[in-house]
Amino acid sequence: MISKTFFSRKLLLSVILISSFDLPIVGKANEDISFSAPNLHTQTLAASCAACHGSNGNALVGNAVLAGMDKSYFISQMLAFKNGDKSATVMHRHAKGLQVEEINELAAYFAAQKKVPAISPAMQRLKANHD
Ligand code: HEC
Repeated sequence: MISKTFFSRKLLLSVILISSFDLPIVGKANEDISFSAPNLHTQTLAASCAACHGSNGNALVGNAVLAGMDKSYFISQMLAFKNGDKSATVMHRHAKGLQVEEINELAAYFAAQKKVPAISPAMQRLKANHD
């Protein structure tokens, strides 16, 4: 015999299933996108660092490697740049433009990137060709 509870559960499930088909599809506006790493917003911000710190934070020789960097170290450095506690040539500008939440997301993003051994491209030899 089918119990009353079983029947009402089945009925409730059917109601949920049927009503879910009628749910309107709500479009997501840009400002609705939450900061869950690594989302497109964070990846776009990280891409702006690539010019100096390399793709995915693996800088060529000379600049700081952000890939695999400890999150709390990253955050402390960025906040120090942001509030002027750490002198910098360019980083104070970059850090000032970021919200603290964005810095946190970038910290998680770069910490998750695999650090690769430094790549030193072979020196380019330019052949003098003067007549
Ligand atoms: C134009 C080149 C340039 C760009 C673009 C750039 N950086 Fe930097 N970054 C530097 C330089 C140079 C330093 C050393 C401090 C200074 O002189 O500003 C540095 C230092 C840092 C440090 C400290 C590293 C350490 O070992 O203490 C962090 C963290 C950092 N950058 C993160 C970022 C992030 C995140 C972005 C992108 C939002 C970014 N940088 C974009 C050039 C750049």
